[in-house]
Amino acid sequence: MILDNIKRFVKLAKKGNIIYFDTNYKISFPDEDYLNYPYELGENEVIMSFQNNIYIVYDKETTLVECFFDMEPDYVQSEYYLNDFSKNTGYTDYCYQYIKSSPNILLTNCLILGLGIGNIPNLLIQKFNDKINIIDCVDINKILCVIYKLFFNVSNKIKIYNEKAEDFIENTKKIYDYVFIDIPCFIVNKKFMDNIKKIITKKCFIQINLIGSGIEDIVPEELFNDFTIIESKIIDENNIFFLANK
Ligand SMILES: C[S@@+](CC[C@H](N)C(=O)[O-])C[C@H]1O[C@@H](n2cnc3c(N)ncnc32)[C@H](O)[C@@H]1O
Repeated sequence: MILDNIKRFVKLAKKGNIIYFDTNYKISFPDEDYLNYPYELGENEVIMSFQNNIYIVYDKETTLVECFFDMEPDYVQSEYYLNDFSKNTGYTDYCYQYIKSSPNILLTNCLILGLGIGNIPNLLIQKFNDKINIIDCVDINKILCVIYKLFFNVSNKIKIYNEKAEDFIENTKKIYDYVFIDIPCFIVNKKFMDNIKKIITKKCFIQINLIGSGIEDIVPEELFNDFTIIESKIIDENNIFFLANK
């Protein structure tokens, strides 16, 4: 389904390899120098620029799709292969392999804080659909939420909330059995984890990727005092923690 959506737009890009969406999500094909995108595109790559703010690079050959923010051009926010969401590398693969080998982890009601273009929710649906009732995804970035709904949403079990993760967890009345936290680390403080504690089941399993600088300033043991740390590992500069409810 996603592939069809993307292919439709790639076909439209007759004049070159750039698709531009303006603030009303109208499509045009501008000259290359109209874009701020800092890298040269590979032979099979097409780029979609969303208001020169978010870039989605799609490789027609491999089906790899990557999402960059103009503000952080060196950091891939989210990436996966559209022909197989589980063909990941790095921390998302590490998290996936753990769930795959742990049949006791419940995925009935899932919460993803930090949507990107939906690597994690789409992977969960592709691989564990039968176990899932709902996946609530929260992201602060409005354009990303629209992009996801337009191109990348694979299931009506996935619900998108365009708000700050810290506000969502403070206000929600829902209870989750699985939580994936994938937002900048300065947001994940003691108050944040206290609120997480309030919205999880006794058997909840939590995966955290603490991205961004400042990681050396936080003390995970203190932050996670109320949880059992199952595992903690650094993968490609991503600090991964697996937690269970105490
Ligand atoms: C590394 S990406 C997440 C990738 C994603 N988990 C996936 O499955 O592909 C980090 C995301 O966090 C979002 N973000 C940053 N600060 C946030 C906040 N305070 N609340 C919610 N989302 C936030 C960014 O917009 C970005 O999409």
